[in-house]
Amino acid sequence: YNKELIRNISIIAHIDHGKTTLVDRILEITSAIEQRKMHEQYLDTMDIERERGITIKATPVKVMYTADDGKTYEINIIDTPGHVDFSYEVSRSLAACEGAILLVDASQGVEAQTFANTYLALENDLEIIPVINKIDLPNANIQETISELEDLIGFTEEDCIKASGKTGEGVKEILKAIVDKIPAPSGDSGAPLKALIFDAEYDKYRGVIVHARIFEGTVRPGDKIMMFSSGETFEVTEVGIFTPELIPADSLSAGEVGYIIAGIKEVSSARIGDTITSADNPISEPLPGFREVKPMVYAGMFPGLPEYYGELRKALEKLKLNDPALVFEPENSPALGFGFRVGFLGLLHMDVVRERLEREFEIAVILTAPNVVYRVKMKNGEIVEITNPAKFPNDGEFEEVEEPYVELSIITPSEYMGNIIGFVTSEKRGEFKEVENAGKNRVVLKFIAPLSEIMFDFFDKLKAISRGFASMDYEIIGYRPSDLVKVTILVNKEVVDALSFIVHKDKEYAVAKKVVEKLKDLIPQHQFQIPIQAKSRGRIIARTDIKALRKDVLAKCYGGDITRKMKLLEKQREGKKRLREIGRVTIPQTAFLALLKIG
Ligand code: GTP
Repeated sequence: YNKELIRNISIIAHIDHGKTTLVDRILEITSAIEQRKMHEQYLDTMDIERERGITIKATPVKVMYTADDGKTYEINIIDTPGHVDFSYEVSRSLAACEGAILLVDASQGVEAQTFANTYLALENDLEIIPVINKIDLPNANIQETISELEDLIGFTEEDCIKASGKTGEGVKEILKAIVDKIPAPSGDSGAPLKALIFDAEYDKYRGVIVHARIFEGTVRPGDKIMMFSSGETFEVTEVGIFTPELIPADSLSAGEVGYIIAGIKEVSSARIGDTITSADNPISEPLPGFREVKPMVYAGMFPGLPEYYGELRKALEKLKLNDPALVFEPENSPALGFGFRVGFLGLLHMDVVRERLEREFEIAVILTAPNVVYRVKMKNGEIVEITNPAKFPNDGEFEEVEEPYVELSIITPSEYMGNIIGFVTSEKRGEFKEVENAGKNRVVLKFIAPLSEIMFDFFDKLKAISRGFASMDYEIIGYRPSDLVKVTILVNKEVVDALSFIVHKDKEYAVAKKVVEKLKDLIPQHQFQIPIQAKSRGRIIARTDIKALRKDVLAKCYGGDITRKMKLLEKQREGKKRLREIGRVTIPQTAFLALLKIG
């Protein structure tokens, strides 16, 4: 153990700018993983991550690198997730490091998360090494990318390393810069223990495996540790390092990154950002920056078949062991029966949870359209947090409603600036704040806008307006009062609580109209006419009718080949699992998400 020979770094980048590929190359060059084990994208371990090509969980790895001075350095690379849903994890991973490699795809230039992550790194006082990546691409625009980095962040051309994670060009220079430019960690291995939890995972056999960065002191098996935020204590049974496989060690000391196993049963006891200290000799001040992660969006989740309620509960409990950001409580919907109100960090998180339920637990679920958390001041002065539109108080029962707002940054070629400002301010209730130049033909636009307006279909529309060139990032800045109303939907004259939604008064009619029309397309015809109505503040504000139809599914295939008929029947059976009878009307899963694409 020689602190001077340790470097703790993170790699930060906009999504798809090549982080995982670069780490793979570094692993190969330093031979951390034997060649035969080497497969593409070693660090993205979850199936879903690999298929979607996105990093969700940060995975650390330690490599040994012998520099020109003949000394062998230990480099801990802490990979960070790239999606805005997981920005708190990025920030905590960065807090575990002294330096960061900032990767910018030379064919894309600086994008919104490049910027956002750089700021997180600067806030954490990290030494940043800018790297222009993917220089092997024929459309790489190296000079333009450098000038954007100069304009936006203030790097110089000499600071920037030109590299390709694909061909390996420049990767040795990156390793050299890590050793030369990034400071060795400070800290005293003899001081009382002070360690940062930057991640935690649940293992079926060993319980929670805490990923920690030791700032002060030493931790060994047998030590009693304490979680600073909760005061819970545990006895350490094993410590070790990531290669990225877990290799046990005798101890972890100030400056080192590794794992701690201590008979912890649930990930919620080892919260990301919390400080670990010694139970017998605790420190008085924790490391800075810990906050509770609060879910930002809620949706109703119901088992595809009602009899799967118990299994769904068990599956959610299992997922939660590994995912402390997931919260849920039972919900009973008159329309959908027994289910859960589930809180997520964002829509990607919601999608990942739904997919894991289907893949790992084989449970199909009905999800209702997600909503943000509203804060309502009631007439009696009480403040209630509303996570379910169906529970939103009626007009006249409350004084004021607040909803979460964000600061939104959009980076775009200047030619789309006018249309983007128009879109955000007139369609999305945004307030334009400022514009800043970024390189030759690009600008950074800043807005304040309600989270509910930018969370759902915003990004798709932004991409359409900018022909795919704009990128965005946002940060929650708090709650602000807003003129909101609840709209309920009636199908065949019956209220379907799971279809209720909250909308700004100015958009009430337009959105209600779109929703009933969308539902008309999504709910199949029945043998009787079905009115679909939207009601707000006591009045019906929109209505459509689904015409009656006698429909024989097999009629279409009459005389056709038998396998096609079989397939159709099979498909129907599949689909049935996720249909719900409301009164006499059958409503498919898609209808409950109708609101997602509107607004
Ligand atoms: P997230 O984890 O989602 O943030 O993505 P990432 O930054 O880890 O990107 P990843 O390494 O998955 O690379 C994204 C895509 O770019 C993949 O298709 C890679 O094959 C490709 N890619 C990465 N590095 C290079 C490079 O240096 N040159 C070229 N030509 N392609 C690259």
